[in-house]
Amino acid sequence: MLVGIFPDADALADEAARRVIRTLDAETSPTLGVATGSTPRPLYARLRAAHAAGQFSLEDVPTYALDEYVGLSPAQPQSYRHELLDQLTGPAGTGLREENLHTPHALADDPWREAQRYDALVGGAHVTIQILGIGENGHVGFNEPGGSLASRSHVSALTESTRHANARFFDDDVSAVPELSITQGLSTIALAECLILLATGTAKARAIRELVEGPVSAHWPATALQWHQDLVVLVDEDAASELEFAHDLREQWAAARHRH
Ligand code: F6R
Repeated sequence: MLVGIFPDADALADEAARRVIRTLDAETSPTLGVATGSTPRPLYARLRAAHAAGQFSLEDVPTYALDEYVGLSPAQPQSYRHELLDQLTGPAGTGLREENLHTPHALADDPWREAQRYDALVGGAHVTIQILGIGENGHVGFNEPGGSLASRSHVSALTESTRHANARFFDDDVSAVPELSITQGLSTIALAECLILLATGTAKARAIRELVEGPVSAHWPATALQWHQDLVVLVDEDAASELEFAHDLREQWAAARHRH
């Protein structure tokens, strides 16, 4: 694991965009894994700007979402498909074509079967780089505390903490936040060649401490990613504020910059 600590969310997003673009450029047939939520939005803005400048394109890059709310139509702005289409497609987007954006089907008659279908799709995709966020409770995708650390894609019940955190996307109405999601499992996520996890703000500080310095535990699902051979964690100073070994991590980052 490599941890980069940045003065603010803008510097973090610059570095994330640089890494995503460079990693995809290095592949002949790249594929991308994307997260939703508010943290990656500045990164997506930089990918759009790079596309506008003619420096980057997702035109031929199959792209896979991490998760989706069960029961929300893609026409609803809170649906993750809607959000990703908004962030990545269209004339001012990244070149991504709608048919190349793969998301779990939120309206599938049988969400459990749909989770299996999606797992097979992502499992066969050889994702080059997977963008991740992290929940305050340590979830990645919607792998909530207490779930299997070796899970494949599945239907997950959102915890109260997650539903409260996400109510901000639903006019602060917790009751409007869906109770179920389809999420890539932790083992599915770990199939990607590289993982890049972004976190900003003090609300994420405890989860980042557990991810970076804590024991692997179902209490903090992100800790399962400690086993991944190419995990880069990018945080701002606030999200890094509970790290005990920040000094050592900065030295490791400085040393690794010669390679990355
Ligand atoms: C979204 C996802 C979630 C978010 C997490 C953080 O696809 O998988 O794990 O990354 O809930 O969300 P934000 O960035 O809104 O704090």
